[in-house]
Amino acid sequence: MKRPDEGRGLDTALACPVISQKGPPQPKPRTAGDGVNPERRSIIGGVAAVGLGQVLADPSKLHAAPFGGEPAASGADARSEVRLSLDGGWRFFRGDIEIPRPHSGDATYSSTKAGAAGGPAASRFFDDQHWRAVDLPHDFVVEGPFEESANVAQGYRPKGVGWYRRTLHLDAADRGKYLELQFDGIATNATVWFNGNVVAHIWSAYTSSYIDITPFARFGKDINVIAVRVDSDPLQGWWYEGGGIYRHVWLARRSPVHLITDGVYAHPRQEDGRWRIPVEATLANIGETASRVSVEVVLIDPDGKPVVSGRTSVKVGPLEQKVAALSLEVNTPRLWSIETPTLYRVETRVLDEQSVTIDAATSSAGFRSARFDPALGFFLNEKPVKIKGVCIHQDHAGLGVALPDSIIDYRLRRLKDLGCNAIRSSHNAPTRELLDAADRLGFLVMDENRLFNPSPDYIEMLQWMVRRDRNHPSVILWSVFNEEPLQGTPEGYEMVRRMAHAVKALDDTRPVTAAMNAGVFAPVNVSQAVDVVGFNYQIDLYDKFHLAHPDKPITSSEDTSAVMTRGEYTTDMSRHLLSSYDDVARPWGATHRAAWKAISTRPFVAGAFVWTGFDYRGEPQPFEWPTASSSFGIMDLCGFPKSAFYIHQAQWVQDRPMLNLIPHWTWPGREGQSIKVMVMSNTESVALRLNGAMLGEQKVDPYEMNTWEVPYRPGRLEAIGMRGGRIVARAFVETTGAPVALKLTPDRTWLSGDGRDALPITVEAVDQNGRPTPTANLPVELEASGGRIIGLGNGDANSHEAEKGNHRSLYNGLLQVIVQSEPGTSGAMTVRAASAGLADDVVQITVRARSGPASAAL
Ligand code: GAL
Repeated sequence: MKRPDEGRGLDTALACPVISQKGPPQPKPRTAGDGVNPERRSIIGGVAAVGLGQVLADPSKLHAAPFGGEPAASGADARSEVRLSLDGGWRFFRGDIEIPRPHSGDATYSSTKAGAAGGPAASRFFDDQHWRAVDLPHDFVVEGPFEESANVAQGYRPKGVGWYRRTLHLDAADRGKYLELQFDGIATNATVWFNGNVVAHIWSAYTSSYIDITPFARFGKDINVIAVRVDSDPLQGWWYEGGGIYRHVWLARRSPVHLITDGVYAHPRQEDGRWRIPVEATLANIGETASRVSVEVVLIDPDGKPVVSGRTSVKVGPLEQKVAALSLEVNTPRLWSIETPTLYRVETRVLDEQSVTIDAATSSAGFRSARFDPALGFFLNEKPVKIKGVCIHQDHAGLGVALPDSIIDYRLRRLKDLGCNAIRSSHNAPTRELLDAADRLGFLVMDENRLFNPSPDYIEMLQWMVRRDRNHPSVILWSVFNEEPLQGTPEGYEMVRRMAHAVKALDDTRPVTAAMNAGVFAPVNVSQAVDVVGFNYQIDLYDKFHLAHPDKPITSSEDTSAVMTRGEYTTDMSRHLLSSYDDVARPWGATHRAAWKAISTRPFVAGAFVWTGFDYRGEPQPFEWPTASSSFGIMDLCGFPKSAFYIHQAQWVQDRPMLNLIPHWTWPGREGQSIKVMVMSNTESVALRLNGAMLGEQKVDPYEMNTWEVPYRPGRLEAIGMRGGRIVARAFVETTGAPVALKLTPDRTWLSGDGRDALPITVEAVDQNGRPTPTANLPVELEASGGRIIGLGNGDANSHEAEKGNHRSLYNGLLQVIVQSEPGTSGAMTVRAASAGLADDVVQITVRARSGPASAAL
């Protein structure tokens, strides 16, 4: 059993509700440095900093920061009349604001009453003009330095407390509507106040909170204030979790009788060869009288044509919820698959007695069947599909956990290039936008719950995940836990039995699994309570388990845990560098090649989930300080490929020839010395040539890959892939000269001018022939006009350079700069890179005028 004593217990400390005292606020900042960015303050605030804690008599006079249009989300309720973005216009303070403790009897009495804000910063009347202006998503932890005394699992980034505030103007016309504040994710614990009322205690970084603010709302000139105290110190994971409001925030405005958030369940199923979509729509009524409404559901095909519709009616009593159910029969729909992820739309409308539409929601639907067979693995649409999956965490270079939607999309496109067909969102529910992208791009998803506990608070979080995600065709498995010490015990079994039951109550179409790293042969264990057994590692137990339980489907839920440093070819423990020849794995894991061989040669193992698709901060195994990020990734923290990328492409991509070779071929001083060359290909045979001279041909080994020992001579080393005697692929590496210029390559040539769209640009140093130099580690200055730089990274796990700003070094030839449009812009963004002694490069990115979801007014 792997690392039984590593002390990986979770710290699930609950956030204590902050009890506050009403009365004259006397805030005391507790940290040095408030994180105020003077430049932004002067641009956005336009005012000199006022005294800390100065109280304004009239909150309607609070300064309004500019905000812009935001791109449409593809999830439910994206229409602006229903849902407004609250991502723009926040004020942020890094540090805590003391909540005074009451002393007298009267003060204590009043501090316990509704509306008694949690200290001055939670009150409506606090002046936050001196706080820094920020837009969401925001991760304040990634802005900080690296410190050896900080937690290794959090990438040596100090965490701590931060406060956010935002005003919200509600039009008089919104009076009477149901108003809901939606936080998609805050790391880690948070208390939320609305107009001085505590409205939420959030204590998981991975669940959303939907808060009814209707009773507290003010309209017209009377401004509302949202205040959030975020404590990022409590840990829920042993990986980097960041800190702050790192997912989107929304304001939903619905009619008094409305569809609750995530309240439409419409997932197609096939029974006796016929397709139908059973629809359950949950309605709530905040009105004072019962109301009869009709619910109309229309299925729209990918061309925008209505296919079938249904209607029913339901009476909802005041402050009650009711479910309206109907079923849509669908003839020969176009199927959703990995190769052709065809999406339909389900539009659900609520109509009043005069047939006026009073509320609506849209969700996507994919027609696909999915099942796990104990002998033959996974079937999608009755075709066998080997799961070629990766586990991922959610952070990215330069950004921490605060990823714009387009960066999530970029990461999934990188995985598509890899030939990967599945994602395990480890070890927590992903952001909604990741599932939207998975639906759209054709990935299978193992959707994982964070905290293993069947008590009511935790079941609520598990059920939130299922309710939110059950319409996504990409989701094929619900995972209730990862590697829990109770997995081989009767307690663990009983806990999972309850959790699986809670999942099935909401979705009986997908199997429940648990990622087990031990205990599968214990007399009573969790494998007996799940539909599909997830094996973390334990490759040597696959056969034994299958023999003992031939009727139980199994999949790898996690495998590999091999480590490599991009662009390094020798393991040097003293310099914390790991070779790229796929020869270093953790003791519980295996190399990329060995793990895939074990899985791919066993039809009864549904597939692989490689640990991990991308490097992530924290877990710098096998090292510690100063290494701050992991090296498990098939790609580095930026999404730049390591050699594992080419190994998996050779093993996973089937529809086109793949061929690549390592290492690079620039080894001055090593002339005549033998260099190991690894060729990774899915062709039948490969040949290698150095400067035109044939070094030999080998039959492709699809598991081990092919290697040569080549005496180094500068020049061109070429690999040639053949099938049926014909050349089908070529790849080469060349000896390059000294870098003379920088080169910028944007991921795409355009950006939406909505202030949200972001794209990565690759920076390389090229020689006099324009060839990227693989060992350049030069410092680079970046500059953007007509847009902004939001993050910098280079994939070096040992680097302590800042991830924000405009200065970063290339690492082994590569650097990534992430740029974002300014809100409400169009035209061009110009990005320039410079490095002393090298020619600059400049790239122009077209900024397209585009407005996304409307923002709520400040
Ligand atoms: C696994 C665990 C992962 C990660 C990995 C590193 O056991 O599930 O979260 O820690 O080990 O090898």
